[in-house]
Amino acid sequence: MAKIKTSFFCQNCGAQSPKWLGKCPSCGEWNTFVEEVIQRETKRGYRMPDAGSRKPVRISEVTVDSQKRLDLHDQELNRVVGGGLVPGSVVLIGGEPGIGKSTLMLQVALQCEGLKVLYISGEESEQQIRMRSERIGMKQDECFILTETSTQTIFPFLEELQPGLVVVDSIQTLSTQVIESSAGSISQIRECTAELQKYSKITNTPVILIGHITKDGTIAGPKILEHMVDTVLQFEGDRNYGYRILRAVKNRFGSTSELGIYEMHDRGLREVSNPSEILLSHRDEPISGIAIAATIEGLRPMLIETQALVSSAAYGTPQRSSTGFDTRRLNMLLAVLEKRSGFRLGVKDVFLNIAGGIRVDEPAIDLAVVAAVLSSNEDVPISNKTCFAAEVGLSGEIRPVTRIEPRILEAEKLGFEQIFVSHYNLKGMDVKKFSIQVRPVKKIEDLWIALFR
Ligand code: TYD
Ligand code: MG
Repeated sequence: MAKIKTSFFCQNCGAQSPKWLGKCPSCGEWNTFVEEVIQRETKRGYRMPDAGSRKPVRISEVTVDSQKRLDLHDQELNRVVGGGLVPGSVVLIGGEPGIGKSTLMLQVALQCEGLKVLYISGEESEQQIRMRSERIGMKQDECFILTETSTQTIFPFLEELQPGLVVVDSIQTLSTQVIESSAGSISQIRECTAELQKYSKITNTPVILIGHITKDGTIAGPKILEHMVDTVLQFEGDRNYGYRILRAVKNRFGSTSELGIYEMHDRGLREVSNPSEILLSHRDEPISGIAIAATIEGLRPMLIETQALVSSAAYGTPQRSSTGFDTRRLNMLLAVLEKRSGFRLGVKDVFLNIAGGIRVDEPAIDLAVVAAVLSSNEDVPISNKTCFAAEVGLSGEIRPVTRIEPRILEAEKLGFEQIFVSHYNLKGMDVKKFSIQVRPVKKIEDLWIALFR
């Protein structure tokens, strides 16, 4: 009998070692090595049809059939992947359980009218998927379901059916016979992805993989999984809100700063094409502590509400907490207000919230955060027809941000009456062409005088 071969794999980065190690030499993590059975010699995997033997070609001689991208009939998803799926690409979509990954992918499968889609599910039965499709309320004749987890069984079906798009729900449930360890283990995930990737490249079929994520929010499996695929998308959202955000974390064929927004309904996910409207809360009378920021995610300008609450500290050490905004950045802005502009915030509790459960990392939101904090501190509301777009520097100067014009235009479109921007942003710009009033500021004091005096 052939001896069973085992090897140790790092659960974090996928490094392999013949013996157990306490610390991974490649990623430096401790206690991540797990023994897995491998047995390459005796069993053979499914043999892919060979696409002719490869030989070196001159780059100028490579023909690009204009790389026709596959339209997914979903504006948000199309934009996030960079304008449709590239043939032969592998996309990995990760997200917490219950966030709606399966729903989104089934919707895509049902939307692509006339495209043969194979939805491989290792998580749900055919009946369950059928019920979900009825709930979504869409029909497509060319959508096929396969509830199978062994790649050796899947590939002959793929060859027979020749689908134009393959969805795998989820990569953690697949297993290949080449490797003995159980489905979901590092080596299984890696091998199955490699097989699917090979299939995708040879047949030029796009493949979408759904991936589970671990407790700390990274995709379960080896880190190299993310290196192997062409695009990594993250589907996230706050459970308490119906909104879901789709981000590209890695994209070989497009930008990673694009964002897609959906709303979960009782009948599936709906695209949100005008995010500013949902991110601004509707209020009739002005309330102190609220300021609106004109931000840009990817190519799309968005107006987002920042809410601050400043109150006298009840205990010795003042609390600083923020939701949807980096707390360290908040602390820095508060230090700037204290040190450079003389506001006594060191003895106050400061809470900050970005409305809609969205997370922003753009520096252009700084000025709105400062305005919200000052407004709450003074207890004077800011008009809800005012918005802000500028970064705040360590010396209290208001710094310019990129692409100011689309921000101003978006604010104008949504009916705002004035926008505060950095003085340095307006060089060579004709502000008279806007109907919105563009107000340049240089220092925090200028802002304070303009708002509260
Ligand atoms: P699902 O796609 O199963 O999540 P994942 O595959 O990421 O684990 O999403 C399931 C959740 O979405 C579930 O809590 C119910 C909710 N949902 C709706 O609110 N409306 C719908 O039309 C559907 C299909 C699901
Ligand atoms: Mg699912």
